Amino acid sequence: MAGSERLICAAAELADRGKAVRFEVEHCGETAAAFVIRFGGAVYGYLNRCGHRSIELDWREGEVFDSEGRNLICSMHGASYAPASGRCLGGPCAGTPLRRLRIEERGGYVYYMEPEDD
Ligand code: FES
Repeated sequence: MAGSERLICAAAELADRGKAVRFEVEHCGETAAAFVIRFGGAVYGYLNRCGHRSIELDWREGEVFDSEGRNLICSMHGASYAPASGRCLGGPCAGTPLRRLRIEERGGYVYYMEPEDD
């Protein structure tokens, strides 16, 4: 059965390398924090769960980029992730990437594409 889509925010709310918009998803039968960002003009979404200790990345709500706006960074111990893939770039994530979510931008809005039911 095809998954459904959910409106997350207006596209204009996401500034390039700016603050993330947080939302929630169902993941493994539980409600989990997630976020969307804009980077290089495109939108990306991830579970808000560090590869190190499964805690949220934000140092302040929605603040997930490093000070240069170059990479995503976990506020707890500094694990660094590529914004366009979620790949671990360094720090205690030790190769564990962020879990990427399917996000689409269309008609001035950003949508989360829920996975298909098993
Ligand atoms: S919990 Fe994210 S770097 Fe340790």
